[in-house]
Amino acid sequence: MSDKLDDFLKELQDKIYDDTIKDYGQKAFERWRNPSHMRPMENPDGYGRITGPCGDTMEIFLKFENESVGAASFQTTGCGPSMICGSLAAELALGKKPDEIKKITNETILETVGGLPEDDQHCALLAVNTLREAVDHYTKQKIQRIDDTSEDDLYGG
Ligand code: FES
Repeated sequence: MSDKLDDFLKELQDKIYDDTIKDYGQKAFERWRNPSHMRPMENPDGYGRITGPCGDTMEIFLKFENESVGAASFQTTGCGPSMICGSLAAELALGKKPDEIKKITNETILETVGGLPEDDQHCALLAVNTLREAVDHYTKQKIQRIDDTSEDDLYGG
């Protein structure tokens, strides 16, 4: 590539980054550039998958250790803000028990990232709803296991 083209592309990238920081803030920009916990997980204990009204789909995976989240990750087909919100939802779930996770709201995510433009705030709701679905899935599985164990005890299985 010629130096001129390199310079042009660098300038263009800098402009996009500057505009993103201006519109979304430094914290959101850094999270967008490095969305931690963005990966699938095999055999999660809790799994949520929701398609929002915008048509984007988010998945959240949880692994529990002693009733608290030991590992969390997410995937999204959606926009940059959905990456930011999914990453924060996974991070905020770490170390928490199911009832503590239920207290995480879309507001929690928005406050943690320092706010998002109004048009992107629904992305935080998608992340939180998906996180709750993952916790519900874990809780239902746990209840099912307890039921199965009780039946085994009852019938000597
Ligand atoms: Fe769909 Fe952001 S626009 S999750």
